[in-house]
Amino acid sequence: MTLVGNAQSTTPAVSGDVLEIRGGRPLTGQVDVKGAKNLATKAMVASLLGETPSTLRDVPEIRDVEVVRSLLEVHGVAVSEGEEPGSLILDPAGAKSAGFEEIDAHAGSSRIPILFCGPLLHLLGQAFIPDLGGCRIGDRPIDFHLEALRKFGAIVDKQPNGIRLSAPEGLHGANIELPYPSVGATEQVLLTAVRAKGVTELRNAAIEPEIMDLIGVLQKMGAIISYEPNRVIFIEGVDELHGYDHRSLFDRNEAASWACAALATDGEIFVKGARQYEMLTFLNVFRKVGGSFDITDDGIYFRRAATPLKPVTVETDVHPGFMTDWQQPLIVALTQAEGTSVVHETVYENRLGFTHALNQMGADIVVHPEGLEGEYRRVPRRELEQAAVITGPTPLTGAEIVVPDLRGGYAYVIAALAAEGTSRVSNVGIIRRGYEKFFDKLEALGADFDVVG
Ligand code: EPU
Repeated sequence: MTLVGNAQSTTPAVSGDVLEIRGGRPLTGQVDVKGAKNLATKAMVASLLGETPSTLRDVPEIRDVEVVRSLLEVHGVAVSEGEEPGSLILDPAGAKSAGFEEIDAHAGSSRIPILFCGPLLHLLGQAFIPDLGGCRIGDRPIDFHLEALRKFGAIVDKQPNGIRLSAPEGLHGANIELPYPSVGATEQVLLTAVRAKGVTELRNAAIEPEIMDLIGVLQKMGAIISYEPNRVIFIEGVDELHGYDHRSLFDRNEAASWACAALATDGEIFVKGARQYEMLTFLNVFRKVGGSFDITDDGIYFRRAATPLKPVTVETDVHPGFMTDWQQPLIVALTQAEGTSVVHETVYENRLGFTHALNQMGADIVVHPEGLEGEYRRVPRRELEQAAVITGPTPLTGAEIVVPDLRGGYAYVIAALAAEGTSRVSNVGIIRRGYEKFFDKLEALGADFDVVG
């Protein structure tokens, strides 16, 4: 075994952090996907805006949810489990300012705290946001967020450990055009504008299904939000919002990950809870690569239709494009396609580093940091662009791998399961940040592995 990996993470090892995986067996069976990480956490923050308790259903048991729960609790929100398994009741009646130490304890844990700004400013007139965490997949600046908050009338004071915000005169509606349809900045505007005085017009908004579901949550709370084609959202501020009762949208990123696992290991996986509409773009690519799927009312069956798989050219993009979170497990499957595939990463500037470890396992992947000119470069939109050229099929063999980030880490586990021989995958805790019951699901699909550290 060789030690490889894009080892950017310095997270200390904890129990359940190291897997020994014996590959070469197809993953077959059923996994259930629950609520989306990228909706549930935002809906939890929205509960701060209500005068009455909210109920969120299908909340995934993942670390990001725990971080947001804890941050809500230090701000006085009572969070308890509802009667239905997987539901949370969030009662903001006791909402209050939190102490610096309590908030700072969450520094570096997640990117969601930035979304507390608007709700806390409405509620308390001030907010402190610790330094943010999340996956190390690029600079991940928050300039769009801060610029939007200033337009609502907030005073932003950057301090060594975080950002202090205040709004002594309250927040008012604003005209905002985002430089890029950022998911987080769109959520920031929505969560702030719903209680601001007057109308907000947001142009160049993100329109991911998770954003639409958040709009649904806010409408249930009493907000008035409408949208037009071309990424324009109007929000009419209201004086008061109440709690919601909402079942979270399913996690389409998790569904796509398991779909790619079926492709890469030549298995068959039924992803219970997956829906077609939110996955249209993914399903088209899945079919072109040589996958086949059956859509039922309860979920989607994923399997291979062809061996070897077929090469594709894809470019990650904002919705309705191919999501950046889908490319990593897809690239593992593409190592088994006959011919040359190209994956452009246009959303983040550092999200192809994980491919280095796949090469050590036998893959043939060349990363072009500046992207590719000419025939492969379909939309020369952002300077961040990178491209991976994957030539296959190449057999994969076991290796010692260090998980770099959430989606890259998932891709490593799938590569290890598809590989001949034994792999040792460490830093797996990062994967469990976003994949619920990850070990249980692997086991249910017949994966041959042990937790060794
Ligand atoms: N950006 C800026 N300035 C900003 C905000 C964003 O330059 O103020 C840039 C980012 O650096 C990035 C691009 O805009 O290059 C897109 O970022 P976006 O704001 O859309 O992403 P995000 O809200 O930070 C969410 C998800 C990501 C997912 C992206 C894209 C959450 C918690 N995270 O991130 O999910 O990849 O949208 O869809 O919702 C994951 O689940 O593994 C993950 C990273």
